[in-house]
Parts: sequence; C-alpha cells; structure tokens
Amino acid sequence: MSETSAETVGLVPAAGLGIRLGGALPKAFVSLAGRPLLSWAIDGLRESGAVGKIVVICGADLLTRAREIAGPHVTVVAGGAERSDSVRAGLAAAGTPRFVLVHDAARCLTPPSLIRSVAAAVWNGAPAVVPALPVVDTIKTVDDHGVVTGTPDRSALRAIQTPQGFDFRLLADAHRESVDEARAVTDDAMLMERAGVPVATVQGDPYAFKITTPLDLALAEAIVASRGANVR
Ligand code: C5P
Repeated sequence: MSETSAETVGLVPAAGLGIRLGGALPKAFVSLAGRPLLSWAIDGLRESGAVGKIVVICGADLLTRAREIAGPHVTVVAGGAERSDSVRAGLAAAGTPRFVLVHDAARCLTPPSLIRSVAAAVWNGAPAVVPALPVVDTIKTVDDHGVVTGTPDRSALRAIQTPQGFDFRLLADAHRESVDEARAVTDDAMLMERAGVPVATVQGDPYAFKITTPLDLALAEAIVASRGANVR
C-alpha cells in the first residue's frame, strides 16, 4: 500500500432497500454468482490498492451479516433513511484521513482501474472527482403531467458513476453543515457543487453500472459468467 492510499478511506454505502430490484433482501445483500453485491464491491476496492481502510454502511438490522461478509478488517456501521444520512454515518466512522472515495455497493463490478483513476485525481490535488460517461439516449425534461418541457443539449450531459473522490475535510464539512440540504441530493458531488467546489471528471467505465433493476442483475450475472476463471 502506498503512503497516499494509507491516507484514503473507502466508504461503501449499502443501506438502501433496493425496492426497484424487487427481492426480499436489501440490494447490497442480494447474490451475484453466489456472493452478495457488497462482497464484490469490497473486493474491487481492495484490489484497487487505493484505500487503506474501508467503512461499510448498512441497515441497522444487517450489521452482523455485513460484518460476516466484510471480514475483520472492515468497519461496519448503521446507515440512515436517505443515502446522505448513510454517507454521513460512514464519514463519522472514517477517522481523519486526507482523502475519501465514496463507492456505492450497487456498482459491484466497478473495475479496480477506475477506482485507481479517481484516487489518482484526488491525490493530484482535485478537491472532488467523479467518473463520467457520455449519455447515449436523448434526455428530456417533463412537467407533472409528463409533457415534455425541453431537451438539454446531449453533448453537455454525462452519466455519473462511483467511486466519487474527495478531499475528506471538504466532504465531511459539507455533510455536517447542510444536513437538510444533503437529504435532497442524489450524490455527494452535488454537495460540493452547491458549496462552489469545482468537481472534476475522469473517464467512467461501462462496467461500473449500478444494479437497480432485475435487468441490471441479469446483465451482471452474464458478465461474471462470461469471465469464467478470470472472475474477480
Ligand atoms: O438507491 P440507490 O441505488 O441510488 O443507492 C445507491 C447506493 O446508496 C446503494 O449502494 C445503496 O445501498 C446506498 N444507500 C444507502 N443508504 C440509503 C439509500 C441508499 O447506503 N438510505
């Protein structure tokens, strides 16, 4: 482990219910090729070599199960109702590192190379970094009745993934200072944007897709099966 990775904590929010996946278990505990999504996500972070410590945030009723999955070297804490509540709980358990990577358990097949690329950007001085991919669909805005109100220029749109990398102090301060505001944000970079902190992008990776629906899980199963012995 490098000196810089020793100062980097990986936070893994895994406290979502995963209602859109439709299973009996919260999403991070759903099985992919016989192992929970959470286990895949932790392995990716470990393999990247970019973090010296991992903190998993899960539902209060699943702390014991998450500890079994994560093993003895991972800190596991209870999350909250909104994703930002879970991230805040993770930040509180992270100690005082210089850098933090926030990585959704649901992006369980994220290549370690993408994790390293985000980490390298924050280590090189960017206060906030997100992986971004061009949007392939035309995106429209609609009103309450579903009637189209506009079509943003697609060339300026990006789909944002995780891990998202931050200067630890900046993110911790933003979460502490704006609890109510944070509840309305859908990723951590939004808090930085609102605080006027520049958010840099690195090239995202299609394999860092988020498992949200049964179709996503079927895709992940097919990817893992196609890798055969090379599976990580
Ligand atoms: O719901 P969504 O797919 O956007 O969740 C992204 C990630 O945030 C998932 O890994 C989920 O477990 C986590 N999450 C959380 N606490 C919540 C809601 C979501 O840790 N209250």
